[in-house]
Amino acid sequence: MKKFDPISLARPNVLKLVPYVGEREAYTGKRAPVLLDSNENPYGEEALIRYPDNTFRELKARIATVKGVTAQQLVLGVGSDELIDMFVRAFCEPGRDNILISSPTFGMYHYYATLNNVGILDAPLTDDFQLDVAAIKAKVQPHTRALFICTPNNPTGNRMDPQAVRELVEWFDGFVVVDEAYIDFCPQYGLTAELARYPNLILLHTFSKAWGMAGLRMGVSLSSPEIADLLGRVRPPYNITTLSMQHLAQALQHPEKVAETARRIAANRVRLTEYLEQSRLFSRVCPSDTNFLLVYAERAHTIFQRAFEEGIIIRSFGPNKGRLTNALRINVGTEGENERLIALLARLETELQ
Ligand SMILES: Cc1ncc(COP(=O)(O)O)c(C=O)c1O
Repeated sequence: MKKFDPISLARPNVLKLVPYVGEREAYTGKRAPVLLDSNENPYGEEALIRYPDNTFRELKARIATVKGVTAQQLVLGVGSDELIDMFVRAFCEPGRDNILISSPTFGMYHYYATLNNVGILDAPLTDDFQLDVAAIKAKVQPHTRALFICTPNNPTGNRMDPQAVRELVEWFDGFVVVDEAYIDFCPQYGLTAELARYPNLILLHTFSKAWGMAGLRMGVSLSSPEIADLLGRVRPPYNITTLSMQHLAQALQHPEKVAETARRIAANRVRLTEYLEQSRLFSRVCPSDTNFLLVYAERAHTIFQRAFEEGIIIRSFGPNKGRLTNALRINVGTEGENERLIALLARLETELQ
């Protein structure tokens, strides 16, 4: 296994932080405790009187079982978005360090780097939306702290070649953050098993996509326990609410439902893809391993606008957006939603001839 010391890459101020531990967390006595340590109001709403369990002991144990890792390898965030922010704050020195992304990709890497005054290097994906390994290697600088790799990638929908990902994780002496937000749609390609081999690898997972709980705002990072400890130091105390924890704990009892929905969405995606591919409106339908499709159309804006007027909201990237010019990102919906979309597109195909 390669040598990697995350402590040497953590920001000095982060190393000084002692994670907040409440008094009650140390209590192991048999008597029900009288909790007078946190200035709560005992006459409040019963289920919510107490601050949430900031140790996540039970919840992490459940997530660990479902993910096939140990609880010490996990950090919970308010969506995986918060984990991106936490990574940047833990390991990137503002005004000095940078991260490397491969556009077009998920916008939040850029957002949180900018928010934290951390630089962004871009080694764009190739024409078939794969990692340009040579370009990435050429772009990396001494102060590049992390390569952000999104696979399957948003907004293109495709997976990155696993050989390229491995090559980069082995080659790079900083962190490689692999965003697997959509991995539950193609679980056989997940990199969880590689965590044991690569101490610089961080995986980001979410419960917003195949788990179907975007409103819950729950994400989790998987990494070495050493990295998790450092990331955990910048996690705001009590970031996860009691209600979120309870809800997630219940959902985790039925991981088989996720596989079921993922299969259903994949079947809907295949049907939608078949329709889009034969439609004269679209010049390109990108292969997808996710719950969305990236398509290109000369009349992209008109299609977006007409769909919007009909109450069907899809994502338009607008003009002058580089390789996303004339691109639309369309979610795979329910069978009924897809039918409504297809009916509209069929009408537009005749109208826009
Ligand atoms: C690639 C990718 N990563 C992360 C996220 C954010 O997920 P969360 O809802 O967990 O913050 C998204 C959401 O669209 C995404 O597409």
